[in-house]
Amino acid sequence: MTNSARINPFACGWFQVEYSDRLKPGEVRPFRAFDREFVLWRDEEGRAHLMDAYCRHLGTHLGHGGRVKGSALQCPFHGWCFDGDGDCVEIPCSPDARLSHRGLRSLPLVERHGLLFAWWHPENQAPDYQLPDLPEYRDPQWSRYHRHGWNVPTVWYEIQENIVDSTHFHYLHGVNSLAEVKRCENQGTVLDVDIHHRFNTPAGVVPGFIQTTLHGPYLALVRFRVGDLAEILFIDGITVRGAREVDLNFSLMARLEGIRSPDMSLELVQEAIRQVSEDVPIWRHKARWERPSLAAGDGPIMKFRRWATQFSPLPASHHEKLELTHV
Ligand code: FES
Ligand SMILES: [Fe+2]
Repeated sequence: MTNSARINPFACGWFQVEYSDRLKPGEVRPFRAFDREFVLWRDEEGRAHLMDAYCRHLGTHLGHGGRVKGSALQCPFHGWCFDGDGDCVEIPCSPDARLSHRGLRSLPLVERHGLLFAWWHPENQAPDYQLPDLPEYRDPQWSRYHRHGWNVPTVWYEIQENIVDSTHFHYLHGVNSLAEVKRCENQGTVLDVDIHHRFNTPAGVVPGFIQTTLHGPYLALVRFRVGDLAEILFIDGITVRGAREVDLNFSLMARLEGIRSPDMSLELVQEAIRQVSEDVPIWRHKARWERPSLAAGDGPIMKFRRWATQFSPLPASHHEKLELTHV
């Protein structure tokens, strides 16, 4: 296997930064992702920004003591100001100084479905796929988000691989029957997975499904339905903190109307949280084989892994090295 076919723990893609309502206008805070330091802030007009943390002047971390001034962020040390694009817009002690080339990188950032998402690419290439729509968000048939998060010493692809690992639902999570993978389609940056189960319920054994669409490495929409009894829909959002540390955040909505048992929808929310809490110790301690010893009946693990390699562009410097090697 060549390097280019490996999955990158710091893959490029849209990732969840924060809930919108947890970042107020004027707020500034440090933010760590991809083993780097950033500053997360919201200007007084209400726009949120995620920028490289260290001031271009003498390196102050803007997330510790930076102040919002209108649409700019001011460094606490000597007062340099940066706008939301990261451009240096003022050097107070030197009004005539050239400001160009003194700016910081600002990551593309959007607010969708009550969340902030930023785009990570190691060489700052523009986003090459869109975030998905979520019409159920704020639909009165559905609950508001139940929020639940875990901090796990692992890599993003261990967590997302769980989606296609159809046999573990029975053995680890105690789901009634072995799951059947109805669909696992590679649709470019989207992976579309449909897994069917049979569930024990007070109304007897009921067929159900978990339909997941992965949108890039760090974001999945998961729809979990039990017959016509209950349904939940959640965002599985991953934030990579370090080479072996991720935050996994679930934003779960229970279907409360158009379904027979809204109470069971609320129970499914807790069931999804319970299942991940069983996965966490596995992720925390497991090894990762590049060539696992798979058996008939396993889910489409290698299909997931092939799909996951596409988010790992080699840095340009690496391409150059490869070209030199091939001369
Ligand atoms: S270090 Fe930021 S203004 Fe001097
Ligand atoms: Fe699981």
